[in-house]
Amino acid sequence: MEYALKERIGKPELFIGRKEELAFFLKWIDDIKQEKSKSTAMLARRKNGKTAIMERLFNITFHKNDGVIPFYYEIKESPMWVGDFCKEFFLTFIYQYIAFKSRNPEYLAPEEKDNFDKVIDIAKKENLAYLTGFIESVAHAYLHENLDILWNMVRDIPRTIAARRGEFIVQMIDEFQFLNSMIYRDKGLKEPADRMAGGYLGAAESKIAPLLVSGSWVGWLMNLLIMMLPARFKYRPLENMSEDEAIEMVFKYSQFFEAPVTDETAYLIAQLSEGSPFYISAILRSEYPGKNLTGVEGLAQTLEFETLSDRGEIKSTWMEYVATALNRVNDKNAKNIVLYLCKNRDREVTRKELLDKLHLQMTDAELENRLKALVKADIIKQGSSNFDYRGVQDNIFDKVFRGVYQKEIDHFEPGEKIFDPEQIKEEYQKTLNEQKAAYYKLQGKYNYHKGYYAEYAIVDQLMYHGHEKNALLKSLTHNLPPGFGFCEYRSVWKYTAVVEYGRGLSVDILARAKSPGDYSIIGEVKNRDTKKFSREEAVAFLEKFERIKEIENLSPVLGFIFSRKGFVKEAEDYMIEKGIAYTDDEQWLEV
Ligand SMILES: Nc1ncnc2c1ncn2[C@@H]1O[C@H](COP(=O)(O)OP(=O)(O)OP(=O)(O)O)[C@@H](O)[C@H]1O
Ligand SMILES: [Mg+2]
Repeated sequence: MEYALKERIGKPELFIGRKEELAFFLKWIDDIKQEKSKSTAMLARRKNGKTAIMERLFNITFHKNDGVIPFYYEIKESPMWVGDFCKEFFLTFIYQYIAFKSRNPEYLAPEEKDNFDKVIDIAKKENLAYLTGFIESVAHAYLHENLDILWNMVRDIPRTIAARRGEFIVQMIDEFQFLNSMIYRDKGLKEPADRMAGGYLGAAESKIAPLLVSGSWVGWLMNLLIMMLPARFKYRPLENMSEDEAIEMVFKYSQFFEAPVTDETAYLIAQLSEGSPFYISAILRSEYPGKNLTGVEGLAQTLEFETLSDRGEIKSTWMEYVATALNRVNDKNAKNIVLYLCKNRDREVTRKELLDKLHLQMTDAELENRLKALVKADIIKQGSSNFDYRGVQDNIFDKVFRGVYQKEIDHFEPGEKIFDPEQIKEEYQKTLNEQKAAYYKLQGKYNYHKGYYAEYAIVDQLMYHGHEKNALLKSLTHNLPPGFGFCEYRSVWKYTAVVEYGRGLSVDILARAKSPGDYSIIGEVKNRDTKKFSREEAVAFLEKFERIKEIENLSPVLGFIFSRKGFVKEAEDYMIEKGIAYTDDEQWLEV
């Protein structure tokens, strides 16, 4: 697949998992053609991969070219005059539209992005002359500073074009909450245009150009949608990654960023990060000097660095966020409140308790307002009733926050223990020990001696040792074609046919041979502790094998099955007949 829009994630292969969410939203996008999809807000804690998903949805939709035109726009976190904002919003849309219609991704990164004449020329050149009327009207309103007309116009142009041309457009707007806080009516940026989002009352009901919005300030975003755009949006929460996806991400980032891990540390990282793609990425890419993620000690040091050092990406990201949030809340007690909830984060705390314990000099109503603002900023959570509150359930955030503020606050609270980083280190150590025990218990349960994550062991085997251990690996594997050799591979990883999401076309291993004459490999790894590989599974595998071979245009290519518990006789017969190689030899997992 071609990735027309440059994604912030970096190389496309660094986007991991999110299968369920992509399947959901791809269907939602596809359903626009039946006018079945309602505007939706993707809600998640900060840094949970919302932008990554939106950008990927853009690229898949662009690539599919199947009747829905993607538009992605991110509202910046910097003050902007409404005229300039409208111009940029509009030109981004027009260029993306032209790129899609002309199938030329170069228009997604135009040379002169703020030139109306230039885009008119391009529209004409690409046989999209019907756009010129729109462009001229916007240019006119911009030049004459008819600001209300301008915003009404640019906001409605996507759905107007869709209606007139009988087309469908998905409008993805990221950082939607900034629409109401970063745009100003005057060029001096004094007079906020704080009702911009409300303008979407009508447009958000469109079924031919519905909106998908998201944003990093989820509390503010929710509040804005409820207050200004009631009943216009459906809400779709985005959870942390599943454990499988978190593990996949650990191994992928380990391979890509050359930060080796073991099965044990991979497990620990996935657990400690609680499936947050941001934490996984930060740990694997940490700049901790002498980083070593192949043992528990090294992992603990990296976590401490990321949590407590100003050079840690986790700490610096969170502190930037918290500083802005506290600034907005603008109350000197806010830190104490958050810290108190952090310390008691295993339970809910009432307003009364906060008033008493923190000796707050304010009324209950005043406290309620402060707390509301903190909830909006997503640094504390509303509890089960309007009277209860709790800290966010994120063990790393909690430590970062305490690491920065506890000392400052303890200072004003004589008698309390002065903050000591050793305490956080001890807590990490305790969690790591507990998780380590859980890992060994799991391993013991399955009685695995080698390669708990067998598929990644085989990925490693092929990627780094396939060629050099050719003779050995061949001797461990049945039913190889004559003349076959394990060779050097350009890439080895899991495979999911991205455009086909939702139809379940994926395999555990796709190894692409470096030289054209060599065999690539499409493989499946069964790591079960009891069931042998069955004939039905072999049949299903061959079906997938044929499709992937065709989609990826692979030749010569070998089908390969590793099954830890072996194979039933009928499966073996079938694989011999169809030329699929197979093995149950655990030496395959010794890397
Ligand atoms: N599916 C994914 N695969 C791999 N890495 C991911 C994935 N999703 C997110 N990440 C990584 O996690 C981090 C946060 O991702 P992203 O910026 O998309 O989240 P967000 O929810 O939009 O954040 P914010 O709340 O700041 O807007 C980035 O470093 C990104 O590279
Ligand atoms: Mg984002």
